[in-house]
Amino acid sequence: MATAQETTPILGHSQGNSSWTNFKKNGLLKTVIAVCVLGAVLGGGWAIFHWGELPGEFGRDFSSLEGYCKDTLPIQPGEYVERQKRLAKVLKDENAGALVVEPGPTMTYYTNIAWSLTERPFLVVLRLDDELPSGINMTIVTPMFEATRALEALKRANLSEEIQPSVIEWVEDGSPYKAVKKALGGANEGTVFVDKDIRMFIFDGIDDVSNEIKVKMAPRSIRTLRMVKSSAEIDILRCANHATLAALQLVRTYVQPGMVESEITKMMTDALETAGLDETWVLALVDENAAFPHGEPGIQRTVTENSTVLIDTGGRLLGYQADVTRTFFLSERGHNQTIEDAWYSVRRAQENVLNRSNSGDSCAEVDLYARRVIEKAGFGQFFTHRLGHGIGEEMHEEPYMNQGNHEQHLSPGMTFSVEPGIYITGEFGIRLEDIVVVNQEGKLEVLTSGLAQNPWSL
Ligand SMILES: *[C@@H]1O[C@H](CO)[C@@H](O)[C@H](O)[C@H]1NC(C)=O
Ligand SMILES: *[C@@H]1O[C@H](CO)[C@@H](O)[C@H](O)[C@H]1NC(C)=O
Ligand SMILES: *[C@@H]1O[C@H](CO)[C@@H](O)[C@H](O)[C@H]1NC(C)=O
Ligand SMILES: *[C@@H]1O[C@H](CO)[C@@H](O)[C@H](O)[C@H]1NC(C)=O
Ligand SMILES: *[C@@H]1O[C@H](CO)[C@@H](O)[C@H](O)[C@H]1NC(C)=O
Repeated sequence: MATAQETTPILGHSQGNSSWTNFKKNGLLKTVIAVCVLGAVLGGGWAIFHWGELPGEFGRDFSSLEGYCKDTLPIQPGEYVERQKRLAKVLKDENAGALVVEPGPTMTYYTNIAWSLTERPFLVVLRLDDELPSGINMTIVTPMFEATRALEALKRANLSEEIQPSVIEWVEDGSPYKAVKKALGGANEGTVFVDKDIRMFIFDGIDDVSNEIKVKMAPRSIRTLRMVKSSAEIDILRCANHATLAALQLVRTYVQPGMVESEITKMMTDALETAGLDETWVLALVDENAAFPHGEPGIQRTVTENSTVLIDTGGRLLGYQADVTRTFFLSERGHNQTIEDAWYSVRRAQENVLNRSNSGDSCAEVDLYARRVIEKAGFGQFFTHRLGHGIGEEMHEEPYMNQGNHEQHLSPGMTFSVEPGIYITGEFGIRLEDIVVVNQEGKLEVLTSGLAQNPWSL
C-alpha cells in the first residue's frame, strides 16, 4: 500500500505554476493538443474499421440474462444437519465407525468447508456418535500453523448450532494420522471408511496408525447419499441448467458465417457470466471438428453458411454444475441429409430415454434405451461413449449411464446427463445433452427448459 509520502505529485504545486506558464508560452501545449486530436481521430477510425470487421459484435446484448437465478436459494444450514443424519444411519447399517474426507466435494457436502488440497493432510473425521443431535461428531484435523485459517473456513461454513465441530492440530514434525486416531476416539476399533477421492498416502497413513483400524473405501451405500439430490439441490441445478440453455439460445442468434470457434467461445463465456455462473467453460466446434467429442482438434474452423455447429457448455451456480450441449445447422437450406438424419437419431434417442426410464432401472438399461435407437438408425458404431454422467457439485460424478453399469440403479433424486452422440471422424459430429432428474414418481424430468425441437430451434 502506498503512503502519502511515497506518492509523487504529477504536477508539484510549489514549482508547478512557473513551469506551467513557461510550457504555455513555448506553444508546446498546442503541439501536444494537436497530437492528441490526431491520435484520437486515427484511433477512432481504426476502431470503427475493425468493428465493421466483426459482424454483430456491437449488437450483442446478453443483458436479458442478468439476475437469471437471483431467486434461487443456496443450501441452507439445516440441510447439512440432515446430510450428517443420513450419513450416521448408513454408517450404522454398514457397521462402520466413521468416514474420513479430504477437501473436495464430499467435504463440502457434509461440512460446507472449502479448502484447497495441498501436500499437508487437512481432513475432516465424521464419526458416529448417537449422543449428538446430528448423530455425527465432526472433527477437523489441520496442520497447526493453518489452525486459524481452519477456524475462518469453519466460520464461513455457517453451520447450524446442532453441529459442534472440534479442531485437532498436528505439528509440522508430528503425525497427522495420530491426530486422526485421536479424532476417531471411540471408533478406534473396527471399520473406518475413507472417501473415494482420498489420496493413497493418506489411506496408508490411517491404515498404519493402528492395528485395530480397518480402512476401506466408502461403499456404494455411502456414495449413493450424494447421488440422491434434495429439492434444494434440484432447484439450484434446474436454474443453472435453464440459464445455460437460455445463454446458448441467445448466443446462437449471433453465430454467423465468418466467425471462428474462439469467437463463439468468447460470446458464450460472456453470456454465462452475465447469467451469474462462475467457473464457466465452453467447447465450440464447427463441422468436422465436432467429430472429436472432447474437442482439441488443433485447428480453428470457420463457420460457413452451411455449417453444423456444436456447443457444449456450462458453469457453476451456488456450487452446483450445469452442462448442456446443442448441435445446430446455421441455415435452413444447404444442409446435408446424412447429417440431418444423424441429428434426428440423436434426438429420438434422448426422447426414448425420457419415455422409457423408470426408477429401479439399472444405469446399463438407461444407456441402452438410447443406444438401440441409434443402432437401429445405422449409426451404432459411431456412438462411441456412454450415454451420460451424474451431475451435482461435480460436473462428472456417479451415477454413470454406461451399458456396463449393471450394479447401479436409478432412484428418485438422482440427476444425470442424457447425451447421446454420433461422431464420424473427418466428417461431422452431433451431440445433444440435457440434464434430467428422477422425480418422486420415478420418471425422468428434464432440468433444462426442454429438449431441442429441430436442428434450427434449440
Ligand atoms: C447463516 O445462516 C443463517 C441461518 O441459519 C442465515 O440467516 C445467515 O444469513 C447465514 N449467513 C451467511 C453469511 O450465509
Ligand atoms: C468430538 O470428538 C472429539 C475427539 O474425540 C472430542 O474432543 C469432542 O469433544 C467431540 N465433540 C463433541 C461435540 O462431542
Ligand atoms: C451451401 O449449400 C448450397 C446448397 O447446397 C451451395 O449452393 C453453397 O455453395 C454452399 N455454400 C458453401 C459456402 O459451401
Ligand atoms: C415418446 O412418447 C411420446 C408421448 O407418448 C410419443 O409421442 C413419442 O413418439 C415417444 N418417443 C419415442 C422415441 O418413443
Ligand atoms: C453429406 O455428408 C456425408 C457425411 O459427411 C458425406 O459422406 C456425403 O458425401 C455428404 N453428401 C453431400 C451431398 O454433400
